Amino acid sequence: MSAISHGDPNIRVLIPEERIQARVQELASEIRAEIGHGPITCIGVLKGSFIFMADLVRALGGPVRCEFLGVSSYHGGTRSTGVVRISEDLRHPIEGHHCLLVEDIVDTGLTMDYLRHFLEGRKPASVRTVALLDKPGHREVEITADHVGFTIPDEFVVGYGLDLGELYRNLPFIAVYTP
Ligand code: IMP
Repeated sequence: MSAISHGDPNIRVLIPEERIQARVQELASEIRAEIGHGPITCIGVLKGSFIFMADLVRALGGPVRCEFLGVSSYHGGTRSTGVVRISEDLRHPIEGHHCLLVEDIVDTGLTMDYLRHFLEGRKPASVRTVALLDKPGHREVEITADHVGFTIPDEFVVGYGLDLGELYRNLPFIAVYTP
């Protein structure tokens, strides 16, 4: 599939669907190799991670619990406000669980840094982090996810769960958005 077939002149494919799917399988193997084959509590950060989370939990196999955290740090534009707010808390306690925080993208790092501390405060057995995308050119906090799908340049991307003003989440690929 290409940006042309999508028919939107503002987007250009950066990572095609097949590469994402192959990398998700590799990430799942990496994560199982680290955490083992016991239960994992996957915690998806809404809304951007929902498609990645759906593919990743199926690739992980074995016992997996799915939780979500609602977070808002962007307000419709292409730049972070730097303020992280939890809009939807976990439904169940995670005390004693091996947790995997599932993020769509790490940009400034503020969200992942905040959420890692937030989860550690709930006394899990461990917290690992995975981000499909890493945009290291724009960090404000020194943080790297334990597992990263793709490192990308400092451009605004959409698709595979990532949005611009709530649109584009349903694209099966990652695309650069240029106004
Ligand atoms: P951070 O706190 O700046 O690391 O931003 C994390 C959140 O910002 C991600 O979970 C995304 O929801 C959003 N974000 C950052 N960069 C992009 C982008 O290029 N496209 C869409 N959303 C983005």
